[in-house]
Amino acid sequence: MSNLNVEQIRKDFPILQRKIGGKQLVYLDNAATSQKPRSVIDALTGYYEGYNANIHRGIHTLAEEATDAYESVRDTVREFIDAEHSHEIIFTRNSTEAINLVAYSWGNANILPGDEIVLTAMEHHSNLIPWQRLATERNAKLVFIPITECGQLDMEEARKLISSKTKIVAVTLMSNVLGTINPVKELAKLAHEKGAVILVDGAQGVPHVKTSVRDLDVDFLVFSMHKMLGPTGVGILYGKTELLEAMPPFQSGGHMITSVWRDKATWTELPWKFEAGTSNIADVIASGKAIEYLTALGMDNVREHEIEITKYALKKLNELGDITIFGPKDATLRGGVISFNVDAIHAHDIGQICADAAIAVRAGHHCCQPLMRDLNVMGTARASFYIYNTKDEVDLLFEALKEADKVLGHVACR
Ligand code: ALA
Repeated sequence: MSNLNVEQIRKDFPILQRKIGGKQLVYLDNAATSQKPRSVIDALTGYYEGYNANIHRGIHTLAEEATDAYESVRDTVREFIDAEHSHEIIFTRNSTEAINLVAYSWGNANILPGDEIVLTAMEHHSNLIPWQRLATERNAKLVFIPITECGQLDMEEARKLISSKTKIVAVTLMSNVLGTINPVKELAKLAHEKGAVILVDGAQGVPHVKTSVRDLDVDFLVFSMHKMLGPTGVGILYGKTELLEAMPPFQSGGHMITSVWRDKATWTELPWKFEAGTSNIADVIASGKAIEYLTALGMDNVREHEIEITKYALKKLNELGDITIFGPKDATLRGGVISFNVDAIHAHDIGQICADAAIAVRAGHHCCQPLMRDLNVMGTARASFYIYNTKDEVDLLFEALKEADKVLGHVACR
């Protein structure tokens, strides 16, 4: 048994009381977005009702309170990912924007014709398409670390593919399809040995696995607050000081300057050089509450709970017999994301049958079309867990899939 008091946690999430068609909601779509605790929701209204003002611009009380609240979250994030300096934390709109920032700003300054950008075969489109565009524009080459039959990165291949031509390795910490947790510390070492940098897409990993940028020795880390109890609209970019300082701004305009003339301008210092325009103040402030919530639970306990529930779900779903589950079989090698197909039933039909039972799962390609091709499927159904999910909910998913198999499995085979 993990140390999380799930029954108590569930009381903090108003939406989990919701019934759909008279049935209790079972929310198993956490890889898409997590639900929000009362403290996060209250922080949003608290800002708008109590101290709504623009930041860094005013000297009145409201502006000072808003600025302090916003800037203190930078330090909360710094501590959560064990970064050295809070100016290494940049607030963006989401992980996608953070990756685009690096691909545009670092990429255009560093990638030359013939250089190689090393990705993996399990990347989300958000950690693929910005690099495709950069490679096309700079006449560089994309190289992909393949996946083994067990759904893990082929590290033997990685050692060959990361070479003196490599300029950046961009890899997900945890696959949003396979659940695989990747050995980013080892990849960082391989990249650095060849003089390359590493960007880690932590959108799926950081909400579930204790992450220290200093221990992993990664150069860039991106993640999104909405997948870790926070509101939508806040992404985090962590970057090492010397890299961020050398990079030109991504977007330009208000707030990121020191002096402006009609024909030129100078940029302000980190982190504001990368935060042009009015920031997403309320959502950043509420994000701080999300991190405080997770920190109070303890990320080791979060991980332990997820291993327990994933282990149970893997065992239970395998009882269905005609199910294909993608990714590592060992729950300690993966996060709480389980993609599967039940023979002869379209993933969207599974999604619909689950929805009829008030169970929220995702069905489709999960923004990973190249991986779907490698797996030789059009799409999968996917259940993904978080701190408030229970084994009883896994049982309800199992019953819904059994029903789908009974009704649709046979129809589809006729
Ligand atoms: N990237 C999110 C997912 O995998 C949206 O569902």
